[in-house]
Amino acid sequence: MLSSITCTAPVNIATIKYWGKRDEKLILPLNSSLSGTLHQDDLKTTTTAVASENFTEDAIWLNGKKEDINTTRYQNVLRMIRSRATKLMDKKHFVHICSINNFPTAAGLASSASGYACLVYVLAQLYGVSGDISAIARIGSGSACRSVYGGFVKWEMGAESDGSDSIAVQVAPETHWPEMNIIVLVVNDKKKETSSTDGMQRSAATSPMMKERCATIVPQRMRDIEAAIQARDFQTFGDITMKDSDDFHEVCATTDPAIYYLNDTSRYIMNLVHKYNKMSGKIKCAYTFDAGPNACIYLPEENVVEALALFTKHFPGSDLSTYYRGSDKSNIEK
Ligand code: DP6
Repeated sequence: MLSSITCTAPVNIATIKYWGKRDEKLILPLNSSLSGTLHQDDLKTTTTAVASENFTEDAIWLNGKKEDINTTRYQNVLRMIRSRATKLMDKKHFVHICSINNFPTAAGLASSASGYACLVYVLAQLYGVSGDISAIARIGSGSACRSVYGGFVKWEMGAESDGSDSIAVQVAPETHWPEMNIIVLVVNDKKKETSSTDGMQRSAATSPMMKERCATIVPQRMRDIEAAIQARDFQTFGDITMKDSDDFHEVCATTDPAIYYLNDTSRYIMNLVHKYNKMSGKIKCAYTFDAGPNACIYLPEENVVEALALFTKHFPGSDLSTYYRGSDKSNIEK
């Protein structure tokens, strides 16, 4: 018998960055983090999984290319799914997985987040796994646990050594702040030089900023940004988002050897956003950059047209493409 499931999962954009692990194997973070999940139709991964008694091995294709399914991360995910399975248990079924991103993979656009969230969701459906699946997504890629839910989502770092309390929790559903939008300015869609996994390991070991960041700065920001989200207070939300992005890149710059994810265009965008906000006398939009040069701009709906006009004016005819959508709809769907 052949069973097949297809799902899509969107990217999430962190406003408080996850950077550093206290357990590399279980992917347990050194700090809690928080993100907004994008709309289903924009930056997303679509994954199909087929289980059959006739397959002779598990296999995975990413954007049409066969990948090695024997990596620790894929194997950990498959093992955890199968250990909680309520279906396909009678006989050994192998699974074939095909996954496609509608955006550049590994360019700092959180492809691993939507990728693993989608993979885990699809497999959970196929194998009849119920309950929280964010911890399974987490062992695929840390940030993936936040893409399991829509709206604003925090990843509680947890305290248990087995990772049982290191899970994603929805802070506010997508309907809570429907005016919130995200514009993604694609500065460069090349694969990044230093992966997040390597980069954060090096920062944790060498950046003098990590200790204070994890001990006091991030816990305070988590409390403040959660309150700002609940109150739909964009001034506080935007201020914290930009500060955490700046600090994260400062952590990277103070890593030995230094890691630089931003380029001149990224810095130009940062200055432009600051000037625009200053001129307006309030925060009209807020940038945040992950492990790459591409800018994610959080902004309320009412500022979208003006901000897009500003970015288009400053980058006429460039290859700066924009994806855009707010987090007003649900997350994973079949
Ligand atoms: C900068 O989740 O890709 O995007 O857990 O090693 O797979 P692994 O790392 P990953 O790191 C994402 C880092 C970030 C910040 C964030 O999304 O919180």
